[in-house]
Amino acid sequence: MSVRVSPRLDAIPTYVPGLTTAEVLARYGLDSAIKLASNESPYAPLDAVQRVVRDGVEGLNRYPDAYSRALRAELADRHHVEPDDVVLGNGSCELILLAGQAMLDPGTTVIYADPSFAIYPHLATASGAQAIAVPLDHDGGHDLMTMAAHVDERTRLVIVCNPNNPTGVYREASELERFVEMIPQDVAILIDEAYNDFVDLTESGRMMSLARRRPNLLVTRTFSKAFGLPGLRVGYGVGGRAWIDALEKVRQPFNTNTLAQAAALAALGERSAMADRVTSIVAERVRVEAELAARAVPFTPSRANFILVGDPTWEPGLHEALLRQGIIVRDGGPLGVVGRVRVTIGTPQENDAFLAALDQVTPIQTTAERSEG
Ligand SMILES: Cc1ncc(COP(=O)(O)O)c(C=O)c1O
Repeated sequence: MSVRVSPRLDAIPTYVPGLTTAEVLARYGLDSAIKLASNESPYAPLDAVQRVVRDGVEGLNRYPDAYSRALRAELADRHHVEPDDVVLGNGSCELILLAGQAMLDPGTTVIYADPSFAIYPHLATASGAQAIAVPLDHDGGHDLMTMAAHVDERTRLVIVCNPNNPTGVYREASELERFVEMIPQDVAILIDEAYNDFVDLTESGRMMSLARRRPNLLVTRTFSKAFGLPGLRVGYGVGGRAWIDALEKVRQPFNTNTLAQAAALAALGERSAMADRVTSIVAERVRVEAELAARAVPFTPSRANFILVGDPTWEPGLHEALLRQGIIVRDGGPLGVVGRVRVTIGTPQENDAFLAALDQVTPIQTTAERSEG
């Protein structure tokens, strides 16, 4: 006899992470593989970051600072807000899930784009709320007008992922500012900016500024992508007091661990080295896109640290073909973008290896070509 689990869980798909390097090596009998599957940074943490992590080990017999005072103060300073306008999470993923806990109940709705970050559907199923998944526009970006049109008196939460995962498409700050204006001020909006660090500096930060004026807005960021610390799990949100108070109520007191707090703080202190890394990734993204265009390989122009490569009409198989050559990318099928793979931008050498492997893949036929042939 099995335990009585909430029937709501039946609707929650178990998250299936991409294959690890070790799994790919074993499965295909390879000596080496390159992982471009999880939108990680190809760079190891900077020396200054590694040092504080090593030094912090000695104090691990104590609980972390439950309020993450030093990190919170630094983030507040950086975003020109008060420390009480900042909330820390065990990755930004935790904050997104907590937003569901804090805002949703049966009979309410949450609106987000589809396909977008895989965690959003969990919020509704976990809380018994109704999910309204609004298909992306043809360019792979959010259809903001349709999303706004779905807001009614039952709506508790609207989520925007910008740039969007898995498409990489970015909606300009001016469009989002208009969108936020259209949403009633008592409806919570969460703007997930996990990939915002890869967006041009002139645009970056506009939503954070808006969060200072619109208390129904929470903007989440992460140390997992540009800052290269996904293994430590630390993300944060900046938003109105009602948002922050709600998340503070539902989070566990010690959600952000000691080493994560110290490393994130140290990473923030390494501004120019971090900026150089982001510049290199963006330059590589531009180069890889140019290489794809030169090969007439279809892709979705990206503003993030990954590119969606392929076409909806392509037969599945590109993912597997690349894996066989030791290039680990993310299969688009489970992400809702069939016929495509999501390729993280790595070092120049890693990106060259991806392009070389792509050249080896037998020309991928479209469904139309197959039926013609
Ligand atoms: C759009 C988006 N938001 C949030 C996250 C969560 O990142 P983390 O929990 O590592 O901060 C990810 C991770 O892939 C993501 O793609």
